[in-house]
Amino acid sequence: MDVPETAERIADRLSGVSLPEHVAIVMDGNGRWAQQRGQPRHAGHYAGVQAVRGVIEVCARLQVRALTLFAFSSENWRRPKAEVRVLMELFRTTLDRELAELKRNNIRLRFIGERGRLEKGLQQRLTLAEEETAANDALTLVVATSYGGRWELSEATRRLASAAVRGELDPAQIDEAALRSALCAPDIPDPDLFIRTGGEQRLSNFLLWQLAYTELYFTETLWPDFTPDELAVALEDFAERERRFGELGSKQGAGEQQLAAVPLGQARDA
Ligand code: FPP
Repeated sequence: MDVPETAERIADRLSGVSLPEHVAIVMDGNGRWAQQRGQPRHAGHYAGVQAVRGVIEVCARLQVRALTLFAFSSENWRRPKAEVRVLMELFRTTLDRELAELKRNNIRLRFIGERGRLEKGLQQRLTLAEEETAANDALTLVVATSYGGRWELSEATRRLASAAVRGELDPAQIDEAALRSALCAPDIPDPDLFIRTGGEQRLSNFLLWQLAYTELYFTETLWPDFTPDELAVALEDFAERERRFGELGSKQGAGEQQLAAVPLGQARDA
């Protein structure tokens, strides 16, 4: 992936802007994009790969630390068999085609989700891609495949419960840090910015734990039309947000004097 002109232009456009370290994206709207053109749904998924490429290039150029893409949800298994087959084939061919380029660009690949449900050959490819890029330390690209936030939280709970049964963990010690440590990728900081294309305004079971304080950005743009410039707009929007993490922000003039002025019982979380 040579850094193309577009990524350079966007880096210029965003110079001095405060950027997220981790961006998470729900890539929605492939099917509608294809239907609008009188094409079968899978044509939208193929077109979506191009948008994936653009977003990776820009994030890498901007030195975003992590990019998580929701490629296939636990619920997507309920789609018609033919569509599931096309998507699985697309992951396999895209991975085979792009791996060398990702390696050249020092990008680390990770996969989160219920791998056991994937076809054996694909499972092996994912593991190999993770091993071969494990030492890369530019962008970490996390691909959520056969993933659901509720599945991840159930798995984490099961792991902690098993450790407790084995006597390795005192249930009284189970706190937020313990639960986080049992998630799929506990070492990756929570996303700062969540983007969903395709017009729906919901999380759809994506990173339920990790998105607790993430800034949410929704756009009507269908995923195959989500260009690097659209990503730049989302990043500029993010830069305008005031992140408070449940505390008082600068606009509220955080400080003891302000707190003293709030009548008891009227304190509000962010
Ligand atoms: C949602 O659109 C999209 C998907 C279920 C698949 C996303 C996959 C890609 C963009 C391609 C490959 C990605 C990688 C990382 C190799 P939809 O089908 O729900 O669209 P609709 O809402 O218009 O029906």
